[in-house]
Amino acid sequence: MAYIVLVIDDQPSILQSMEVFFQLRSWKVHTAPDGKKGISLARRVQPDLVVLDIRLPDMDGLEVLKELRSRVPNAEVIMITAHQDMESTIKAIKAGAFDYLHKPIDIDEMDSVLKRLRAMMSAAPVAADDESANQPLGGLDTLHLIGKSKAMKEVFKKIALASGARVTMLVQGESGTGKDMVAQAIHRNSPWNNKPFTVMDCSTLAPSLVESELFGYEKGAFTGADRTRAGRIELTGDGTVFFDEIGELPLHLQSRLLRFLQEGQFVRVGGVAPIQSNARIIAATNRDLLAMVAEGTFREDLYFRLKVVTIHMPPLRDRRSDIPDLARFLLEKIAARTALRPRMLSEGAIGELMKRDWPGNVRELENSLTRAALMTKSTVLSEEELAAALDGDRYQPATERSVKSLADAERDHILFALESYEWSLGKTCQALQISRPTLRAKIRTYGLGKNS
Ligand SMILES: Nc1ncnc2c1ncn2[C@@H]1O[C@H](COP(=O)(O)OP(=O)(O)OP(=O)(O)O)[C@@H](O)[C@H]1O
Ligand SMILES: [Mg+2]
Repeated sequence: MAYIVLVIDDQPSILQSMEVFFQLRSWKVHTAPDGKKGISLARRVQPDLVVLDIRLPDMDGLEVLKELRSRVPNAEVIMITAHQDMESTIKAIKAGAFDYLHKPIDIDEMDSVLKRLRAMMSAAPVAADDESANQPLGGLDTLHLIGKSKAMKEVFKKIALASGARVTMLVQGESGTGKDMVAQAIHRNSPWNNKPFTVMDCSTLAPSLVESELFGYEKGAFTGADRTRAGRIELTGDGTVFFDEIGELPLHLQSRLLRFLQEGQFVRVGGVAPIQSNARIIAATNRDLLAMVAEGTFREDLYFRLKVVTIHMPPLRDRRSDIPDLARFLLEKIAARTALRPRMLSEGAIGELMKRDWPGNVRELENSLTRAALMTKSTVLSEEELAAALDGDRYQPATERSVKSLADAERDHILFALESYEWSLGKTCQALQISRPTLRAKIRTYGLGKNS
């Protein structure tokens, strides 16, 4: 399905060149020469993207932008502005434009904005009634963030706007909300995406190792330092260092990190010569850093230094409208990962998912769906099947659970495993942790077949 773009500009040459530009990229293009015609055309064709000149003969571009935001809220808007017009550019971004470009339009720049926009749009999966929605993962990029809710669109916009600048960013949010994914998305959408992305997980590295890991060390700096080694910041070069769980960083290293952020240079452990580094820093945490500042476990100056651009990941319960798309996407991901047959969800099953609070957020949703895919046989999961799989034995009254013979239970379990792996004996053996001859013998004993 081609994306639809509407270009609103009074300069025929711009309309023409934009038309060619988008057609070459397989977009369906509409054009309008002024604001009024643009708005009415937008309502009719429901574009995915509007390219809007901020100066129009009949209306102020910002007015047009506001109209578009309220009348075609699903359309993203790229503004075309003049260099000297930074003030209205900022206004446009604040009023909800996705990005802006200066006249004369640079094709490479347009392409790079479009790349970010496409990354965001293809993150939103195909509609439920589109048959490709149920196809296996294939070329789908599992790094893509799913979400069409207002809250997630805000997140995408921040990623898009901030990824192009080498600013330090802080990603905050509950566990499982997608902070790792956001950090990677920022890097991927930055002009330095061919440079390294280095992860420093502050919660798993031993505090005694963090410093030398990060900054490197000189030969003889400590026992066992038999040669000079570069640290991760140095090795990252112009890439990104992602400090996961920054709240766990010990205080003395917080000071060293702060100094690095302020000066853009550091010294290796045991060294004296400062080393310059241009690495971009992204930090993430599920802790309340401000509360940690109050109790003295996180440096206030580092906190302010990090939070220049902050992205708050909304908990899943505050964006329930994303659950259907997320669930479909995750089921495909699960199928690709586990070699289980892809599952779909009935309307009722989706309703069941949307009712829940998901304190563990997207990660919990993913785990629950994995369990459901493992525990049920149907291709389309019903509300009851899903609820049973999610709640396990919790809601199953003891009386309904009859005690059956061990042989019956074994038979059922083997059949379930075989069906889950589409009768692949290899995978079934692996899952059941038994040998192939044993599995064959059991199949014979229980008389199992594809239609048992
Ligand atoms: N918007 C999303 N679209 C698709 N998958 C997502 C999305 N958000 C999260 N996920 C998936 O949910 C899981 C958890 O995401 P992630 O690891 O990024 O969370 P986190 O906030 O870093 O969690 P933690 O605080 O526990 O480190 C991952 O498997 C990720 O792929
Ligand atoms: Mg994480």
